[in-house]
Amino acid sequence: EKGTYAHFMLKEIDEQPFVMRKIIQEYQDENDNIKLDPSIRAAMLDTDRVYIIAAGTSYNAGLVGKQIIEKLANVPVEVHIASEFSYNMPLLSEKPLFIFISQSGETADSRSVLVRIKELGHRSITVTNVPGSTLSREADHTLHLYAGPEIAVASTKAYTAQIAVLTILAVDTAKAKGMTLDFDPLQELGIVSSVMESLTDQKDVFEQIAKDLFANTRNAFFIGRGADYFVVQEASLKLKEISYIQAEGFAGGELKHGTIALIEEGTPVIAISTQENVNYSIRGNVQEVAARGAKTCVVSIEGLDQASDAFVLPHVHELLTPLVSVVPMQLLAYYAALHRDCDVDKPRNLAKSVTVE
Ligand code: F6R
Repeated sequence: EKGTYAHFMLKEIDEQPFVMRKIIQEYQDENDNIKLDPSIRAAMLDTDRVYIIAAGTSYNAGLVGKQIIEKLANVPVEVHIASEFSYNMPLLSEKPLFIFISQSGETADSRSVLVRIKELGHRSITVTNVPGSTLSREADHTLHLYAGPEIAVASTKAYTAQIAVLTILAVDTAKAKGMTLDFDPLQELGIVSSVMESLTDQKDVFEQIAKDLFANTRNAFFIGRGADYFVVQEASLKLKEISYIQAEGFAGGELKHGTIALIEEGTPVIAISTQENVNYSIRGNVQEVAARGAKTCVVSIEGLDQASDAFVLPHVHELLTPLVSVVPMQLLAYYAALHRDCDVDKPRNLAKSVTVE
């Protein structure tokens, strides 16, 4: 039940700090080590390449997960859109391991890939929020999200739960390989949880930004580089699916290769900048679009902050910034839809679980 909340989406955005804590609890043993099914660990150790298969928001979480797994565990990862994979199957490595990411565990596009790769004799893990779902039953192993039921069509807490669980998988693999990490991942997820809470406590700030940016607009652009590029793709998906504002997420460096032609007086451009190595370049992009009349808004992070930024996120570990930078994006989408009188929890033309190909 949504209790005092006007919409499930807002309730689910607010639940994210608790979901992070629940995940820490479920994946931690009495000695504060990671607790994971040993057969999943063995599968990760035995593969030469992971293939993540997913759709929509789960695909966007996979993009973040790829970076985390590659950086922490040094295992190559490819991320594929489920509906494309079947007829555009890449050359597979010698020992592929498939990870299906699916909140519902029922997405038909993902299932058809699972059926296909099982026929080929490959191993699989499903990362899902629904124990007993089709993808969970049919894969060799399951990693649970522990996010609690997600009712709003627009996925929010499942996205952050997916990234957190993939982080735990990456850390476990790194440790099993004898690699040493220079940070305590479970503690860092705890910090993420607190930061998320501070963000959901400032809804009025994001409501105002949404009003300023989206009141009379037909389109909007999100830009980012590095890990922020993955988050802007999710930001644009959220905005378009519930507010019906045409939105795109771009890599900052791609603007000059075409997209900048779309910028007019008043076009909203939202930039995320949480990565030190690209901070300078993304700010250059913001200046370029501002010079062409765009209404700009920068969400940055402590340490990189500049006086003119719309919002400065508290510091979290650099690999985990998507877990926190996505929260303002979810809230911007929510308030944009709310102020346009859209049906936030049940956007037109969409179903929560897509069981047809
Ligand atoms: C977007 C959204 C969809 C789903 C997609 C995959 O907010 O909810 O894009 O992410 O349909 O669904 P699952 O994760 O259930 O496979």
